[in-house]
Amino acid sequence: MKTVKLLASALVVSLLLSACHTNTSDETTKDDYMDEDTTTEATTTNATKGITQKDWGTSDGKQVHLFTLTNANGVQVSISDYGGTITSFVAPDKNGKKESIVLGFNNLDGYLAHPPYFGATVGRYGNRIAKGKFTLNGQTYTLATNDGQNHLHGGNKGFDKVVWTAGNMDANNPQLSLSYLSKDNEEGYPGNLNTTVTFTLTDDNALRIDYHATTDKATPINLTNHSYFNLSGDVSNTILNDWLMIDADRYTPVDSTLIPTGQLKPVTGTPFDFTTPHQIGERIAQVPGGYDHNFVLNKKDSSLTLAAEVTDSSSGRKLQVYTTQPGIQFYTGNFLNGSIKTDEGKPINQHTAFCLETQHFPNSPNTPAFPTSILQPGQTYHYVTEYKVSTIK
Ligand code: GLA
Repeated sequence: MKTVKLLASALVVSLLLSACHTNTSDETTKDDYMDEDTTTEATTTNATKGITQKDWGTSDGKQVHLFTLTNANGVQVSISDYGGTITSFVAPDKNGKKESIVLGFNNLDGYLAHPPYFGATVGRYGNRIAKGKFTLNGQTYTLATNDGQNHLHGGNKGFDKVVWTAGNMDANNPQLSLSYLSKDNEEGYPGNLNTTVTFTLTDDNALRIDYHATTDKATPINLTNHSYFNLSGDVSNTILNDWLMIDADRYTPVDSTLIPTGQLKPVTGTPFDFTTPHQIGERIAQVPGGYDHNFVLNKKDSSLTLAAEVTDSSSGRKLQVYTTQPGIQFYTGNFLNGSIKTDEGKPINQHTAFCLETQHFPNSPNTPAFPTSILQPGQTYHYVTEYKVSTIK
């Protein structure tokens, strides 16, 4: 017990030294850090509403930063300008215990080793483009085939691996804007694409993400966030007992390379029917490889509506995903295999996290029947997704 307390005190001291505190009267420190289970508390900085920033290493010779957004309830989200990456999302469980509910690392090195898009802003085109080819205005474009024969998540150096530029900030407002200019022909895509992603942590515990872009040539675009959630806050637990609802009567079945066949298939009577809550693990064995599918959201327009809801009964944490997008990719961490370890050395095994990536349907540039993912010059791409946390008893 004494040793635990001593270790905890040492952690407090080192955290206080390393954390970027602008406020020294930190009355929440004790409660947050003196807990015996210190696995994820290391992600917590201070609890004053607003935004803080610290240097976080370099990439491509550019300074990288880590920003921490804190709302009035002490919910905290850390985001790096490397890849527009959400590195932690600290939220209370039903007993008030704060832990990060996303996979992430405390240091940039963890990301430079290229984990599979942990928390990243994915672009220029999230998800797959068949055989890395598409034709637009009579011209055929060739992209990297970085996922077997297909193009995935923007190619070899997508938006998840570049350093974004942070906009002006107000220290008292938990909001961060990151911009990136993707030049004409970068990763083979046409047009200079000016992208801004704005993260806002609201006082009703929602992380709102606004995506904006403009281009000077017609281009496919499909920006998303690739956070891996484990609502228990501990990757020793799988996500298979979590209850999931997806407001989708149809999904897009895929071929063996995960490219949609083009059909919009009813979920009724299939393991894809999450229109009422089901545990993720209930029917996963019937889905070869696990879930990695796009769901066609039941929406008539592009208003911000509830797309999915996940509840972890043991921690009592609930995540709701709202979006203006037509689709959502539900991925159950099928390719995680224990080879990547958390900062605490725990292996990140298969099905220990899920992703809910709001998006246009995969391979839309080659599937005219799907809603278009082409941005034209003169148009503004804008969409919103919110990840909202709460608890049930
Ligand atoms: C997405 C894809 C998956 C996989 C992960 C990253 O969710 O749909 O197939 O590539 O990204 O590993």
